Amino acid sequence: MRPPAYKAVVDEYAAAIRSGALPPGTRLPTHRELARERRVALATATRVYAELAAAGLVVGEQGRGTFVRVRTGYDGIEPSRALPVPRVADLSFNQPLAPGQGDDLRHAMRALAASGDAEALLRQDPPGGHRHDRAVVATYLLDRGVDTAPENVLLTSGAQQALDCVLRTLTRPGDVLAVDALGYPGIKLLAAAHGLDLAPVPASPPNSATPAGPDLDALDRLCRARRVRAVYAIPTVHNPLGWVLDRRQRERLTAIAGAHDCVIVEDGTYAFLEPAPPPPLYALAPERTCYVAGLSKNVAPGLRFGFAALPKHLVRPATSALRAAAWGSPGLVTALATGWITDGTVARLERHRREDAAARQDIARTELAGMDVTAHPSSYVVWLGLEPHQRPDHVADLLAREGILVSTADAFATGPHTPHALRLALANPPRHELADVLRRLRKAIESIPPM
Ligand SMILES: Cc1ncc(COP(=O)(O)O)c(C=O)c1O
Repeated sequence: MRPPAYKAVVDEYAAAIRSGALPPGTRLPTHRELARERRVALATATRVYAELAAAGLVVGEQGRGTFVRVRTGYDGIEPSRALPVPRVADLSFNQPLAPGQGDDLRHAMRALAASGDAEALLRQDPPGGHRHDRAVVATYLLDRGVDTAPENVLLTSGAQQALDCVLRTLTRPGDVLAVDALGYPGIKLLAAAHGLDLAPVPASPPNSATPAGPDLDALDRLCRARRVRAVYAIPTVHNPLGWVLDRRQRERLTAIAGAHDCVIVEDGTYAFLEPAPPPPLYALAPERTCYVAGLSKNVAPGLRFGFAALPKHLVRPATSALRAAAWGSPGLVTALATGWITDGTVARLERHRREDAAARQDIARTELAGMDVTAHPSSYVVWLGLEPHQRPDHVADLLAREGILVSTADAFATGPHTPHALRLALANPPRHELADVLRRLRKAIESIPPM
């Protein structure tokens, strides 16, 4: 059954308010005007506003009309600073969503509600998920080159929980974890929580003969010098540097791990963005690779659905680790996620995201031309080097005052050296506004006088 048409109007307004396209205080059409514009009954227009009000997005004032609410909160991760501007362009965290995903959710929930055994969703799934749900994910992973049996797949609450579960299983406090010198901040948090010793591996020098990626000679030296328990790697669409390792780099990385008996923790969270990547590390060394990913960037971060494909001997201890932590993915979320994998929704959204990310990178390439940019055409992120007089924290403050949120390099640096740089996440602002946001960002940065 299709959701009622007025829901699409609610979604449209909600998206425009959340993105800031309709800033706080904006007066919205009267109920009568809305009914006329949208060719709906007056009662339906009233219902649209009632839902927006219930979501905390608008307020109706007797006799004055309906207004976009001035919100004190914020939809993404709470910003550390108060924002003096009502309209925020959030380049600090990627939360890609496509138009119509609200309707996808309504469809799926109706289908679930109509299915025979709703009560099953109230029962506890086994930690790591039912076999039939793991089988759906195993089939999905096959398209990514991860060929694994359903028994070796665990379903989790997001990729972050999968990483947590893998590290709990593999490591003891004091173990050495090799990581990129600039990498995904979540791994730093986990390493701190598990008492791991992070060993940063620098990126291969720019303009060297080697393509972008970790300096594998440095990794080899590290593994010779210290007992490295595991190597955390993002070979396909790296966060934050965007790289996609070629086949030779992948073979070398897995060979180094093999020679030094290290486990590889492969993070495939953004891998779906690259249309035809070389085989994952998992395919090259399935006996020592834990492949971790989720549906946050390809479907929705609020879904909190992730998974790990593990070497067989790690499945049992990882299941215990998952059980100790938070059991894995809740049945309701698993039902939504596996339903969307099976009915082609995930594949459709992934196609949309690939096109969207490439278009946004094009915009960034144009608007930031001549600046110190490191990025990959498939990725949703840009690493922006700053001049020595442009301190990242000052620049971030300056930009926040302009209503632009960014992340500074310190969140990504795993070693003592923090470069003067920002990471820009391109997915959130409406695409037609991105050029303007980047132009304002550039202007603000370039206005900082040299010392
Ligand atoms: C590289 C990488 N891995 C893992 C995650 C965590 O993903 P999830 O939201 O599925 O926990 C993120 C989220 O930003 C990420 O960028």
